Amino acid sequence: MRLDLPRLRERLGAVLFYGLQSVYELDSGMAADEPISERWEATQRIPYELLHDNLQKMAIVVPVREEKLKLLDGVFAGIPNACQIILVSNSSRSPIDRFELERDASNSFGVYTNRPVISVHQRDPQLAKAFAEAGYTEILDDEGLVRSGKAEGMLIGTMLARLSGRETIGFIDSDNYFPGAVLEYCHLFASGFAMARAKHYAMVRISWASKPKIVENNLYFAKWGRSSIITNRFMNQLVSSYTGFETEVIRTGNAGEHAMTLDLAMNMGHSSGYSIEPYQLVYLMEQFGGVEAPEAPDSTDVIRNTVNVYQVESRNPHLHEYKGEEHVERMIEASLSVIYHSPLCPDSLKEDIRRELSERRIRAADEELPQLRKYQPLAKADQQAFRAALEGHPAETALEFAL
Ligand code: GDD
Ligand code: MG
Repeated sequence: MRLDLPRLRERLGAVLFYGLQSVYELDSGMAADEPISERWEATQRIPYELLHDNLQKMAIVVPVREEKLKLLDGVFAGIPNACQIILVSNSSRSPIDRFELERDASNSFGVYTNRPVISVHQRDPQLAKAFAEAGYTEILDDEGLVRSGKAEGMLIGTMLARLSGRETIGFIDSDNYFPGAVLEYCHLFASGFAMARAKHYAMVRISWASKPKIVENNLYFAKWGRSSIITNRFMNQLVSSYTGFETEVIRTGNAGEHAMTLDLAMNMGHSSGYSIEPYQLVYLMEQFGGVEAPEAPDSTDVIRNTVNVYQVESRNPHLHEYKGEEHVERMIEASLSVIYHSPLCPDSLKEDIRRELSERRIRAADEELPQLRKYQPLAKADQQAFRAALEGHPAETALEFAL
């Protein structure tokens, strides 16, 4: 992999946001292939060996809810052999047990490729018990089971990744039509960690170069997702209001495909459902930007080491399932809500957000935005108790193999 050097950077306290970086070569050869004459720094080269070292440290969490099995299968095929796969499903179990079909697919994949795949169902009572024993009951609903939602699935994946002994965690959606894009995302995650100066606390977020659509019977490669363009605009305004300088540094407000060191992931607070990705940026600014007293258990260490946030533009087009207009509107509202309710958000920006939502007929201008459910950092959960409560569970057996 060969990437350019980030031209832009914005520093907010202990958080360093790097500007968008692009890919020059998807494959830049082995370490020994570098000609001496090329050893100058216009681009940075991540040779195979370094990429592989970083892939070996990585767990990839795949959240799934009622997706086509064919797509899930393609996503598995795109995840490099060195990575530990963790499947977290919230698919229905009746009248057809779709999770059983997914587990079957992941087990077969594991057998054919000789890789232990960890798979769990979000609403599994034993998993709920593990969270209860770990003292992390906020993730449970009235029925005592883990709440539904993409973020909640990601929290499960994060706990399991921590127990698997891996050092970094990446998230890849299961509704991706191009296995080659999945492979690129994993390589970009690994490249980001290879570049990271703050080894303990780093994040890599992917921005898609294009999203193919059919417009007037032709293929059209749109640059920005409908939600991303709005989220990024308001997120940049939030950064600007903090630094006093207008900026466009944020290009990945809604990055479904992103990765973190587990040390960072365990110290992040979360917002529910689809607001999780924009909230990560807001949380970093709030907690480690030097404004508020941080709540994360290892916050002193985080602040001492700084957090590096990389944003990389992938080369492959991103093609995923179309989930409808209302889905996009809900995502916009959820993303803007975490900006709106941040203590960092000035009144003028709040007003702009309300205006934006009312112009899009998502919410009336005089209406307050809903406060979304927040979760504390998982570092507050008792990992030993969580592990002990999973005894005898197929995921626990897979974890044994994974270690
Ligand atoms: N485990 C679990 N639990 N998975 C879920 C749930 C759930 O409750 N809900 C959705 N998923 C899975 C889906 O099956 C899919 O693989 C992934 O999470 C993303 O959900 P989509 O419904 O496909 O979301 P999207 O494509 O509109 O948005 C994605 O991209 C955005 C960036 O443009 C998401 O990753 C967003 O979070 C992201 O902001
Ligand atoms: Mg999708």
